[in-house]
Amino acid sequence: MAIRIIVKEPDPVLREKAKPVPKITPNIHKLLDDMADTMYDAEGVGLAAPQIGILKRVIVVDVGDDNGLIEMINPEIVSAEGEQLGPEGCLSIPGLRGDVNRSLTITIKGLDRNGDELVITASEFLARAFQHEVDHLNGVLFTDLAKSVYREEERQKKGEE
Ligand code: NI
Repeated sequence: MAIRIIVKEPDPVLREKAKPVPKITPNIHKLLDDMADTMYDAEGVGLAAPQIGILKRVIVVDVGDDNGLIEMINPEIVSAEGEQLGPEGCLSIPGLRGDVNRSLTITIKGLDRNGDELVITASEFLARAFQHEVDHLNGVLFTDLAKSVYREEERQKKGEE
């Protein structure tokens, strides 16, 4: 287990498309462990492998709900409905926030660390986190989609948090 360096924008690795994981090896387990360590150390709610410079389709999410840590390999959003507009940030774009329109409810399918199929239906903030992380696997950042982007401290000055 180790904390890895989080790649920041404008590093071009963040714009690459990540490759599917063909086989779950001990290296993938180490990657998942390191991604969780790195996410928690940075106080994030999600992390995608490209954010530590690894172009593999692997994400971790923990939004602080009862699900705890969710690890997913080769995630794919298989259905989406509704809409939500809300603020997002990204560990690769420190200090910036933006209001992003996302699906309200999604079903996401992938593999867990044992190679078993994992299917999760999520709404609201968890759904938002999954959509944000899957975007990272396709080289998409929230700033590409945001209706408005603002510096975190400006927002705090206005007392909006
Ligand atoms: Ni991000």
